[in-house]
Amino acid sequence: MTNNVIIYLTRHGESEYNVLKKIGGNSNLTENGIHYSKVLYEYFQNDKIDVYTSSLNRTIQTSQYFPEKRSYPQLNEIKSGICDGKTYDEIKSLYPEEYEKRKINKYCYRYPKGESYEDIKNRVTPFMEEMLGSSENRLIICHQAILRVLYSFFIKIPEQELPYLEIPLHTLFKFTIIKEANEIKNVELDKHYFSI
Ligand code: G3H
Repeated sequence: MTNNVIIYLTRHGESEYNVLKKIGGNSNLTENGIHYSKVLYEYFQNDKIDVYTSSLNRTIQTSQYFPEKRSYPQLNEIKSGICDGKTYDEIKSLYPEEYEKRKINKYCYRYPKGESYEDIKNRVTPFMEEMLGSSENRLIICHQAILRVLYSFFIKIPEQELPYLEIPLHTLFKFTIIKEANEIKNVELDKHYFSI
């Protein structure tokens, strides 16, 4: 029996930290980000969709027009430890060794007092297993590093390439999961770019 499920992934709308080019933190959406939350809701207005966010302000605010949504800290952005709240230029000048180490192996590199891509893959795996077993269509509003990792559950990507996947803001990734007798047979990907 064929039973298709759709999982949509998107980053939150533009945040104040995105504009300042800072990583981490828990900033709010900008006007552009608020606009994205509106057009995202309008896109799904006639569909039945279960909405999931992280527990950070920017994803919760992006889901603001959906009447029902659930927030999961497992979907929070990679913890950047001592680099949290800094720009990449600031990290390069404050912690040049850390900056270089990350360039050498971005997948395994763990920020001091923070996480690596490998860590977040372990963190989101139980959540994703539950998602993949479900027959409901779902929208997951999360963060760049998390989205890269979630993407790799659908499309095989070498670990070393995963942290470099291009995941622009205000873009919806639609994964149609084609199942046969509860086994995943194929996954199709479509992208929708919102012009904001
Ligand atoms: O830490 C913030 C970013 O969303 C992850 O980006 O792994 O390319 O530095 P990055």
